[in-house]
Amino acid sequence: METIPLRLTFDDVLLEPRHSKIKSRLETRVETYLTKDIKLNIPIISANMDAITESRMAISMARLGGLGVIHRFIAPEIQAQEVLKVKRSEGFIIENPITISPKNSLGEAKTLGGKYGISGILIVGEKNRLLGIVTRRDMAYQPKECDKKPVTYFMTKKLITASPNITIKQAKNILIKNKIEKLPLVNRKGTLCGLITLSDIVKKEKFTHSSTDKKGRLLAAAAVGIKDEDISRAEMLVKAGVDILVVDIAHGHSDLAINMIKKLKKKFPHVPIIGGNVATAKGVTDLVKAGADGIKIGIGPGSTCTTRIVAGVGVPQISAIFECFKQAKKTNTPLIADGGIRYPGDVAKAIAAGASSVMIGSLLAGTDESPGLLINKDGVNYKITRGMASLGANLTRQTINSQHKISQENIDAVVPEGVEAMVQYKGKTKDIVSRLLGGLRSSMSYLGAKNIKEMQTKAKFIRITPSGLKESHPHDVIKL
Ligand code: XMP
Repeated sequence: METIPLRLTFDDVLLEPRHSKIKSRLETRVETYLTKDIKLNIPIISANMDAITESRMAISMARLGGLGVIHRFIAPEIQAQEVLKVKRSEGFIIENPITISPKNSLGEAKTLGGKYGISGILIVGEKNRLLGIVTRRDMAYQPKECDKKPVTYFMTKKLITASPNITIKQAKNILIKNKIEKLPLVNRKGTLCGLITLSDIVKKEKFTHSSTDKKGRLLAAAAVGIKDEDISRAEMLVKAGVDILVVDIAHGHSDLAINMIKKLKKKFPHVPIIGGNVATAKGVTDLVKAGADGIKIGIGPGSTCTTRIVAGVGVPQISAIFECFKQAKKTNTPLIADGGIRYPGDVAKAIAAGASSVMIGSLLAGTDESPGLLINKDGVNYKITRGMASLGANLTRQTINSQHKISQENIDAVVPEGVEAMVQYKGKTKDIVSRLLGGLRSSMSYLGAKNIKEMQTKAKFIRITPSGLKESHPHDVIKL
């Protein structure tokens, strides 16, 4: 029999400390690349799972300087709307503000405001000429009977507007001086060209590290599958302004994934594509050849995954990252280490082994921003999460793709490769991310690395035994 190679994961290794000139952890820089052209301020990405990333998580992650990938286990129109929510959540200028026609009713304006979560709707007539604005205040105090009346009846007509060429500083001055929250931008003909809001400016000043596009809007990424209908899903996502598409398939080193990457690159040449998941150097080579701009690494390390148990297939994650990095660095293709992160030290190990960023699922499942259901069991709060190949997720997927009811036959046909689970409620995403980054920075200072690239060149891994692992965790004390 051939010699069977040994592959290692997080708990099998440690990073060896080395001489450091770094005086404070804050000297370290954690900016990284998602693709050759897209920079992130922090190397953390929330997973494209239905219990982890919808618009709320994606907005939070992008504001922190990372990224959230909106999952695909919803109808394409809804997923596109989630992308739109991220893109509209802030920006220097909202280029296509939500508008309503003078023929619409107050009730319709209320519905539109609720749908997009916006506090004021502009009313435009023919040729997009600005007529007025109806704000949350105008809408809130009207009795229900007024819902049928034309929206023009309630709108403010005399508006303070500005030219589309205004700077953010000038816009802020106008908003503050006039005590208004919205500044529509109109050209000489009175045509609406955009909108600047005070809340966007405040957010911009608060979240200085946000991941943004050239127009200052938060970056939005979304997942697509590999079927023909996923091309029209991608089309809707691109129309909604998605910045990055992620091809989401368990076995990324397959013709199905390779062909999908090629198709997406051909149809949307300007949209970066992340491919995956793979766990071998050859997988990296083939996805790069297909056109992938970044690659997700991880077959089976996820906390809710059972692929390794069900199919007997996978590669322990540290070795997978290591092997893939040797190949990926030849073409400067960034890798995302996807799955298995439990501690801040795991983030450090994944990045030191060659990942440019890490993708996280369950560690973020217990946060306020995750879409998972909050439950209380024996007085303790938990949130529900699940693997995307679990029985429940499989059945959800079938209901999206078909009008028929799920039958027992459908249920019996599923071979789950994931589990449904719960995690303890953990509060805000920003606190979890801050702990992970604290660990990463600490690791960098132990290695004498000022930035991620330096960390990857300086890192030296050592293997440890089960006794070494036991020694690593708190021991011989009663934890408070
Ligand atoms: P963590 O450990 O952060 O991992 O929760 C998240 C990653 O796990 C993968 N994933 C799955 N893998 N069966 C699998 O084999 C599943 O049901 C499943 N669901 C998620 C995925 O790569 C995710 O980002």
